[in-house]
Amino acid sequence: MKHFKTLLLAFMLLATSSAMAEVNIIPKPTKVVEGTGTFRLTDGQTIGFNNAAVKDAAYYLRRILTRATGYNKIKVRQGQGQISLVMQTPRNDKDESYTLSVTGKKVTIKAKSYRGIVNGIASLRQLLPDEIEKREVATGVDWTVPAVEIYDKPAYHWRGLMLDPSRHFYSVEETERFLDHMALYKYNKFHWHLIDGVGWRIQINKYPLLTEKGAWREFRPDIDIACQNRAKAENNPTLQIPEKYCKTVDGKKLYGGFYTQDDIREVVRFAAVRGIDVIPEIDMPGHNWVTTQCYPWLSCSNDGEDPLCLGKESTLEFCKNVYAEIFKLFPYEYAHIGGDEVNRDHWTKCPDCQRRIKDESLKDVAELQAWFTKYMERYFNQHGRKLMGWDEILEGGLSKTATVYWWRGDHADVAQKSTNMGNEVVVCPTTYCYFDYGQDNNTIKRIYTSDVIPADLNEKQLKLIKGIQSNIWGEFIPTEARMQFMAFPRALAMVEKAWTPKQEQNWDDFLKRMKAQLPRLQAAGINYRPLETTQP
Ligand code: ACM
Ligand code: ZN
Repeated sequence: MKHFKTLLLAFMLLATSSAMAEVNIIPKPTKVVEGTGTFRLTDGQTIGFNNAAVKDAAYYLRRILTRATGYNKIKVRQGQGQISLVMQTPRNDKDESYTLSVTGKKVTIKAKSYRGIVNGIASLRQLLPDEIEKREVATGVDWTVPAVEIYDKPAYHWRGLMLDPSRHFYSVEETERFLDHMALYKYNKFHWHLIDGVGWRIQINKYPLLTEKGAWREFRPDIDIACQNRAKAENNPTLQIPEKYCKTVDGKKLYGGFYTQDDIREVVRFAAVRGIDVIPEIDMPGHNWVTTQCYPWLSCSNDGEDPLCLGKESTLEFCKNVYAEIFKLFPYEYAHIGGDEVNRDHWTKCPDCQRRIKDESLKDVAELQAWFTKYMERYFNQHGRKLMGWDEILEGGLSKTATVYWWRGDHADVAQKSTNMGNEVVVCPTTYCYFDYGQDNNTIKRIYTSDVIPADLNEKQLKLIKGIQSNIWGEFIPTEARMQFMAFPRALAMVEKAWTPKQEQNWDDFLKRMKAQLPRLQAAGINYRPLETTQP
């Protein structure tokens, strides 16, 4: 018996040391000191918080800790707990750093901001067994956390992902699941491309046709039928247009959907709890076919053609009225005007646009778009918002206060040029950051071992780089499962490019941690792309 006890002890020590080896956090933290022993999560424990400002984070943590464990008696209360969230003073909302301390007796997360606390929660999530991400109760799991001291802070404060529900719609539930997965990996900006030429997805009270009509379409050959054909050819149900987004009206099958303003408020709140800001994009003046189909007077010849006519006062009123409702729904200080890929030909022939060019002493149609961007920026500013836009907003001149999204990979000088002018930049070039682009088995390594943030920027310019974002355009992504396949696990590589300083990035070490994360993605129900597969 004594011998058995010794054996048991040896086994327990072994189990502890193997738990110790399992610190595989992504993105890689600044400093990790592994301890001895483990903290055991049990039912009835308390999550304490010291300041009302982190109460939401405590309930968010409770949700994480109860869902898969079934430990419904875990409590939240102001004060100490076995798990404590501590907002430090002086508070500093810009400081995302945190410390996470795990001992055999307690877990403590300390930070100077709400976001710091949720960053600590993300690390704690990753230290718990993979099954913690399951959506249903998992049995037979020892819910332990290895003893560890972590100090951590990000290199860049912008770690973004963009979804495009215009091309293909994702429900509130699917969007929230995506946000929850973002939070697990410390993404903190959700860019929501809410309208495009093939679908308007947000309720605007003043213009009801935008969703009554503009949120629905007959199947389009270029994207919907193309997806269906591919689904069949590749025997891949994740490319099938979901019936839940179809309805039949007057014998016609229509595809679509939209978010009510209540839905939007719900998603924004869900994101905020997880430390994620939501950046709404209402793309203007291009990508507006569906808008001008709903309200033809917005187009140059009243014929429902894209882009918006910038000569008419009524168009400017429309743009401002739409954003007036947007600003009420989205509290974040930034909003995105779009501005990409505008076909300006109509403006060259439109008497209203030509009059505007003359009246405002503009040189050409590129300057007309620049004039519009500045006009809207003033409106944004009057409402306490800052303007962001795709890199075409540089053409024809730009105010110093606008933020440029460098997206055109073949315009390699955008970051140089913008930062030289004093403009801030979000880095999201097609070269690395377009997650709708096909993948091969080398894609993640290519992302991870590349600069992504251009290497030729000086210190002063680098200060104007807000960070990195990846964009998931929806043309050929009709389902949540397909979206996950395109995003994961490459999103893990990309967030480490933004979080972990370049000199600390190491491919072999990352690969080891990424492999260790795959069962966690599986437990979360994420249809990730296996590391070795022939599927693009
Ligand atoms: C874009 O990809 N058109 C921004
Ligand atoms: Zn016009």
